[in-house]
Amino acid sequence: MRRSERREAYGTTLLTHERPALPQSFETRAIHAGNTADPLTGAVVPPIYQVSTYKQDGVGGLRGGYEYSRSANPTRTALEENLAALEGGRRGLAFASGLAAEDCLLRTLLVPGDHVVIPNDAYGGTFRLFAKVVQRWGVDFSVADTSDIESVRAAVNDRTKLIWVETPSNPLLGITDIEAVAGVARQAGVKLVVDNTFASPYLQQPLALGADVVVHSLTKYMGGHSDVVGGALVTADEALGEELAYHQNAMGAVAGPFDSWIVLRGIKTLAVRMDRHSENAEKIAEMLTQHPKVTQVLYPGLPEHPGHEIAAKQMRSFGGMISFRVQGGEEAAVEVCNRAQLFTLGESLGGVESLIEHPGRMTHASVAGSALEVPADLVRISVGIENVEDLLADLRQALG
Ligand SMILES: Cc1ncc(COP(=O)(O)O)c(C=O)c1O
Repeated sequence: MRRSERREAYGTTLLTHERPALPQSFETRAIHAGNTADPLTGAVVPPIYQVSTYKQDGVGGLRGGYEYSRSANPTRTALEENLAALEGGRRGLAFASGLAAEDCLLRTLLVPGDHVVIPNDAYGGTFRLFAKVVQRWGVDFSVADTSDIESVRAAVNDRTKLIWVETPSNPLLGITDIEAVAGVARQAGVKLVVDNTFASPYLQQPLALGADVVVHSLTKYMGGHSDVVGGALVTADEALGEELAYHQNAMGAVAGPFDSWIVLRGIKTLAVRMDRHSENAEKIAEMLTQHPKVTQVLYPGLPEHPGHEIAAKQMRSFGGMISFRVQGGEEAAVEVCNRAQLFTLGESLGGVESLIEHPGRMTHASVAGSALEVPADLVRISVGIENVEDLLADLRQALG
């Protein structure tokens, strides 16, 4: 038996242990999937198995199905099972960061000579991975406006192996119709990858809309407390899941036991957090549209947003991320970021505390001069779950 086959078989043995049938509801699955009571002590929370290796009962005789923690670790297995359940997939895999997950995916699916369609609006680090790392290995890409299905169709060529979509996108909050792009991908015989970081599986489930693989930065809403860096891949295709698991082990950028545990803990409150993020963000977006210093508000919950109807169709609510442009250009935008007090000036997003940043000089500095360059007068906020009146007051004073 190959090592990856053994691992799959062991994983199955372990995962069927005391595993109750779960209802379909998201909130219940978020709390219970993967979180079976510890078989040894009955602890209701899976322990942090801070261990690298496992005692064997004779050569090859594995008691619990585990042999070495890069290949599999029980705390990571609990998280991976939870991720698969929440995205409606068959296989979840947890990595050391979102970019580690992306790297594993790209090097599993692509070989030199292949071509990829990437969005004209995406996280700067994802673009950097394509442009500065993957391209050097002989994989080229075309940039498309993925909110325009014809632009996606036109970017596909006979070497294309995958289409990458990020919706809502970072930082311009663009919306892509996942089902429509899945149709293009199917027709062309290529895979569709959706970065679901901004929405989380509570708001949007791309696999059900035809995506082949979902990518997450677990650092964001899934962890939810700005205290961990992690990434994930989820797929409904068992063969692809096995191939990805093989590469995860072969490449090695796995999530550690403590990081897995803390993400699993964060996920338990994902549904209630996302409801409050969306509720607060809707009120803040509304205030910003009325503010004289704001020239444009980018939030899919606003009826005037070009992707509003598609977002309403494929998302449960519109999430906690807002970008806006301010009068006075780059310096004015930087000033707003500097003046904010309750909104902490910092990169990242998706935590319970509100954050503010200037994408052009911070998260998206790496796309300067490319097709993904962002407007200099843009401010991005990650709306937390604090009292919304306090957040509104802070933004009003920051805008001056
Ligand atoms: C949409 C999106 N995808 C992927 C990533 C990369 O994740 P990580 O920082 O965990 O490597 C980020 C990080 O900001 C992101 O915003």
